[in-house]
Amino acid sequence: MAPNVDPYNREITYLRVSVTDRCNLRCIYCTPVKDLKLFDHADILNYEEILKVIRVATEVGIKKVRLTGGEPLIRRNFVHFVESLCRMPRIEDLSITTNGVLLKKMAGPLFEAGVRRINVSLDTLNPLKYTKITRRECFDAVWNGLQIAEAVGFSPIKVNVVVIRGLNDNELLRFADLSVRKPYQVRFIEYMPIGRDGDWTPEKYVSSDEMKSKLKTFGPLRKIPRPTHGGPAERYRFESAKGEIGFISPLSHHFCPSCNRLRLTADGKLRPCLFADDEVDIKTPLRNGCSHEDLRVLFQEAIARKPREHHAETLEKGECLRLMSTIGG
Ligand code: GTP
Ligand code: 5AD
Ligand code: SF4
Repeated sequence: MAPNVDPYNREITYLRVSVTDRCNLRCIYCTPVKDLKLFDHADILNYEEILKVIRVATEVGIKKVRLTGGEPLIRRNFVHFVESLCRMPRIEDLSITTNGVLLKKMAGPLFEAGVRRINVSLDTLNPLKYTKITRRECFDAVWNGLQIAEAVGFSPIKVNVVVIRGLNDNELLRFADLSVRKPYQVRFIEYMPIGRDGDWTPEKYVSSDEMKSKLKTFGPLRKIPRPTHGGPAERYRFESAKGEIGFISPLSHHFCPSCNRLRLTADGKLRPCLFADDEVDIKTPLRNGCSHEDLRVLFQEAIARKPREHHAETLEKGECLRLMSTIGG
């Protein structure tokens, strides 16, 4: 069997790398109000270590890498790190998931470094509500950052909207309108129960079917066929729209059967599944000077430990312990 095929015959080609657990926002669904525990700097993999792990990953079959956080753009010398990554052979797709606060300053340098596509988290188009959700007054920064990213040439630009009942579920049509006016792929994401101190309750969850039926009042939706390795979003377009809308439905329509991903946490653990706290420690062996071959074996072990699917619908709060900001989505 190829080294990157898991026990359920899924080919693992995508690595999500969290480069920091720090963030310049404090989203209510992601970080607790108080007692936010951050990793010590010494616990976080340095860039050299991350590059080493990614190089091994590409040798095992990873072709697509996404940088996440926390907020990846706040890590020092990030652009320099991205340049090194862009020079690495065998990576066919490199992208970043960011909250967009620093995009105004960094979109240009990141594009010059070689990145061509980004995903920006933006849960509301209302500046006051933005402050309520993120606990920071940064709406204008993100909005301006999006325009700059568009101007320097990023494409596609995906806008991630986590839909939460009573908070932003009344903005679906405004986001639909955004997808008509702007060349953005707006993706509505079902709210997932992650992190011990999270804010998730069943009442706050909105299924993508419910979102879709609300959006139909905006106009007829045309389905865009999903490319073979196209990721979890189900994609649609409104008539004569510049952009698209999409639905990411981890709870109502599991995409686990086509899961192709592994995660590297900021503190150096390989995480076979977003929802399962089972992890393979790669940092300790790395720092103890293990061989390249040992690292490959650890990678294969993480692939072999991928569960068939998650059971998030039935998760008791507290089963998925890690904060989302330390996994990176
Ligand atoms: P693209 O390749 O651009 O489509 O990226 P992506 O959708 O994988 O990345 P992004 O970081 O924008 O994630 C969008 C949403 O999908 C986030 O809420 C993630 O937490 C969620 N997501 C990504 N991968 C998984 C996964 O394996 N399982 C589950 N349940 N959710 C995921
Ligand atoms: N449910 C769904 N999506 C989430 N994200 C963060 N926490 C959750 C959650 N509980 C999203 C962020 C970002 C992406 C990486 O994950 O908004 O867009
Ligand atoms: Fe918000 Fe993402 Fe930062 Fe979490 S990591 S607080 S979801 S911006």
